[in-house]
Amino acid sequence: MAFRTLDNLDVAGKRVLLRADLNVPVRDGKISDLTRIERLSPTIRELSDKGAKVIVCSHFDRPKGKRVPEMSLAPMAAALGEVLGKHVRFVEDCIGVAAEQAIDLLGRGDVLVLENTRFHAGEEKNDPEFSVALARLADIFVNDAFSAAHRAHASTEGVAHLLPSYAGRLMQAELEALDAALGNPVRPVAAIVGGSKVSTKLELLGNLVGKVDVLVIGGAMANTFLSAQGIGVGKSLQEAEMHGTALDILAKAKAAGCQIVLPTDAVVAREFRANPPTETVSVNAVPADTMILDVGPASVGALIARLPSLKTLVWNGPLGAFETPPFDASTVALAHAVADATQNADLRSVAGGGDTVSALRHAGVLDKLSYVSSAGGAFLEWLEGKTLPGVAALEG
Ligand code: 3PG
Repeated sequence: MAFRTLDNLDVAGKRVLLRADLNVPVRDGKISDLTRIERLSPTIRELSDKGAKVIVCSHFDRPKGKRVPEMSLAPMAAALGEVLGKHVRFVEDCIGVAAEQAIDLLGRGDVLVLENTRFHAGEEKNDPEFSVALARLADIFVNDAFSAAHRAHASTEGVAHLLPSYAGRLMQAELEALDAALGNPVRPVAAIVGGSKVSTKLELLGNLVGKVDVLVIGGAMANTFLSAQGIGVGKSLQEAEMHGTALDILAKAKAAGCQIVLPTDAVVAREFRANPPTETVSVNAVPADTMILDVGPASVGALIARLPSLKTLVWNGPLGAFETPPFDASTVALAHAVADATQNADLRSVAGGGDTVSALRHAGVLDKLSYVSSAGGAFLEWLEGKTLPGVAALEG
């Protein structure tokens, strides 16, 4: 990976266009999670302290090229001001006269947030004219939005070719952590992939078997793999049409010398709700009228026992239906063990993806892994081995 960082960059008095990801969760009109804004703040502080005129741009939600008032970035500008502890200005467009006039008024160290880039159709089309209009606003481009880097949009990709471009501190941290996890990992390296659908994680599994020494499959995805091998999974969620694909992945793993680990026991119930009567059974004895809702204690115990032999772990997706107790038990137990091995042994642990972050937060260990990515879709595409356009545009 060869990208320029903020090290040794002279930004004093310069206009810096900073691509952030202010696409934060909002519930009932209020920002419900400040994580993305907090993680962005070191880059803004650094640029501001070095005397830059910081011009923050971002998308929010999917307004599809139209001005949608509920999708304004004004509340995010206010939240950013609170996190930074300084006044943050806001302007109601991201290009054109209004934006240019607001930028003309900036002094060294000032921070301005531009309105939602997706209010213009040119953003998602990566329209060269829109990229030029953005580039006119600044002397330097800094991209700190790894979580939007899988989108080849004007503010993530197009503009990077028009201005001297650099990775911000959050982008840098994401890329360094991900490279250490899969690009150049210390071995043995294992991946744990959970979640419900093989179909959405097909490319990811195919890529991982060529890269990791051990691939642990959990969640409802494991049901598809068990069923493909002729093991009865009762009424469990599974994708029968993916059996052939699951067998192909098992064969590919064998050829690549990657060990696949599937659950050996399971927690089953006759209905899917909080705290129903449950049974723990061998995966070879799942009653026909039950469904698997979590991996069993023997399987998660074996997984935990394996951790001391690992040097690197990548985790995406919960092991069970963790949002509905007691089917969070295996995910929580594993999360604690991974946190412990990270803090007290030599394990480098990297996790990402929306559900995984929620599960780690639920287990209370979000800050105890080596790195937890703030990205959803971008993290998955990176696990699939894809080149992320927003990152590629920073290289060289
Ligand atoms: C995300 O939240 O994953 C990014 O901000 C990308 O958002 P998008 O899926 O709307 O492009």
